[in-house]
Amino acid sequence: MDKDAAWERIAELRNIIGYHNKRYYQQDNPEISDIGYDRLLRELQELEKLFPDENIASSPTHRVGAAPLTKFAPLEHPSPMLSLANAFSTEEIIDFDSRIKKLTATDSLSYVAEPKLDGLAVNLLYENGRFIRGATRGDGLTGEDVTQNLKTISTLPLQINKNSSQPIPDFIEIRGEVYMEVASLQKLNRRRLDQGDEPFANPRNAAAGSLRQLDSKISARRPLNIFLYAIGNVHGAGFSSHWEVLQTLAAWGFPVNPLIQMITGIDMFLEYFAKMGDLRKSLPYEIDGVVLKVNNLALQTTLGSVSRNPRWAIACKFPATQETTIINDIIVQVGRTGSLTPVAIMEPVNVGGVTVSRATLHNEDEILKKDIRIGDTVVIQRAGDVIPEVVKVVLSKRTGNEKIFKMPAHCPECGSDVVREESEVAHRCINLSCPAQIKEHISHFASRGGLDIEGLGEKISAQLFDARLIYDPADLYYLTKERLLELDRHGEKSAQNLIDSLERSKKPPLNKFIYALGIRNVGEHIAKILARKFGSIEKLMAANFEELTAVYEIGPEIAASITQFFQEPKNKTVMEKFQKAGVMPQETAAIIKDSPLQGISFVFTGTMESMPRSEAKAIVENLGGSVHSGTTGKTTYVVAGREPGSKLDKARTSGITILGEEEFLKLINRQAL
Ligand code: IVH
Repeated sequence: MDKDAAWERIAELRNIIGYHNKRYYQQDNPEISDIGYDRLLRELQELEKLFPDENIASSPTHRVGAAPLTKFAPLEHPSPMLSLANAFSTEEIIDFDSRIKKLTATDSLSYVAEPKLDGLAVNLLYENGRFIRGATRGDGLTGEDVTQNLKTISTLPLQINKNSSQPIPDFIEIRGEVYMEVASLQKLNRRRLDQGDEPFANPRNAAAGSLRQLDSKISARRPLNIFLYAIGNVHGAGFSSHWEVLQTLAAWGFPVNPLIQMITGIDMFLEYFAKMGDLRKSLPYEIDGVVLKVNNLALQTTLGSVSRNPRWAIACKFPATQETTIINDIIVQVGRTGSLTPVAIMEPVNVGGVTVSRATLHNEDEILKKDIRIGDTVVIQRAGDVIPEVVKVVLSKRTGNEKIFKMPAHCPECGSDVVREESEVAHRCINLSCPAQIKEHISHFASRGGLDIEGLGEKISAQLFDARLIYDPADLYYLTKERLLELDRHGEKSAQNLIDSLERSKKPPLNKFIYALGIRNVGEHIAKILARKFGSIEKLMAANFEELTAVYEIGPEIAASITQFFQEPKNKTVMEKFQKAGVMPQETAAIIKDSPLQGISFVFTGTMESMPRSEAKAIVENLGGSVHSGTTGKTTYVVAGREPGSKLDKARTSGITILGEEEFLKLINRQAL
């Protein structure tokens, strides 16, 4: 084939494959078989190898199809990713403007205003115009390398367009927000519900959950979008204003929010803020406020930043959205620990862009306190990612026909007695083998906070349990494709997908595994502490009550839950089954090695500005160090805050190294976040 014919065919194949990608990944409606698709892709790959061209970076061969990862590699940002301080009222916005004017000694400043998207911040690295890597924000200094998944976002240019007066830089960091449109989220959630997966609570969780998929093919199926709004380090191009940055990004082919605006004077901004507040409901994506940024980049540099927030920008948040609706019913859900949770079933209502039809009512006391009845008109609110809550009853709407709710005396799932311990607010089903508890337990194991097993939501867990294929989470690893195919709703492909996701979940991070076990009182935070302290599941299983309570933040109640859990014969069997199936939680060696303060002992004196002493203690201990109340021969550092006491004098006389707060923060590596 000659060059021209090859390039023609390459262009044609790229178009055809692009079309099929859309049908398969985004519309869930493929037109050709997997084999047919692979054939086209292979043909393109071979032609591209023989006839490389400059657009190769944006070819479908570079967008999807990489092998799934086992974990995300950490990626350090060339320059730190900052966050934003918030303003919650007009006064705070005006204060910001006055502060900037004072600090810069100017009265005529220009700003840029931008909608604040509720998504996930990412940093993209381009070299000589080519997208090479991208990461999530992480802790601001290091994020997770999600390059493969970012490449699946069809609006993200893999190659910068030359179409601007600015030269293409040798190197540039471009920052923005990955988000999911509200309609896409609703569609995705309907699909998830159909498949028995847990729906995402909001677009941000959906974007984060979709971008942080180890298998980029799953990311590709999620309709993600991106808006770019900032740059970090850049070599080989220069900008003098933020507005110029945004215009250049747009000219280079990056999606830039069309609602950005140049602002002169704070009154103009307040108008913009109000306008966005009105527009918000009709936008296809969720915004939770507006960002105001100083336009002049030299001024931005002069203003600098305080801790992790730049002084030159502020996020002006919209007030939490409230709506009224009617409670049609109150149902009771049985959780994995047997606790009964009342849930309000409401007339569906749109709260700040998300349709809400359920709200947890927590427990009976909460219902009594707020005097919530079936049939009541209520005010509900959703702030940020918070699950909707009932704020109050609109008493003026009471008709007298409302029904008072009573907790059932018997479990709605298995009919066993329901009890309420004196010390507890929750009612519980006493039957340890209550099917609802077991099903919940299994879907908790597979949930996003746990082993994140795609395709194994509540419905499928329940189906597998009802078909007597599984009784506990370890049984999942003994499922076979053949057994799955005998069940309704499982085709060849979905059965294989489930087996594949299970296989991929066999080496989970230790903290996720501990959380997934569903030990009472052990949430994600405690699971992390346990993983860090004990390093392996065997060591955690062998830990006794005293060893557990010696760990900071682990009180007697949590310690008792853990020892009871591992002593329970049923659980012992489950743990053995995990081991036999080859489920090997990854030892947290990296974290242990990453205990930079191992063997270092601290004494604190005086008050710290940046955090309470309890937090400093927790951080030191999490990094492997220890904290004592008085100095001894073994004390490594005395950390002196404001108004230090006699411990400081003692440190001086005995030659112990004294650290100021800044030095301490540096030591624990938090100063620049
Ligand atoms: S600028 C140093 N602009 O809000 C400035 N951030 O609360 C860094 N965000 O981490 C961010 N829309 O994830 C900026 N137009 C916008 C934004 C935006 C959303 C997010 C971003 C950031 C967070 C801070």
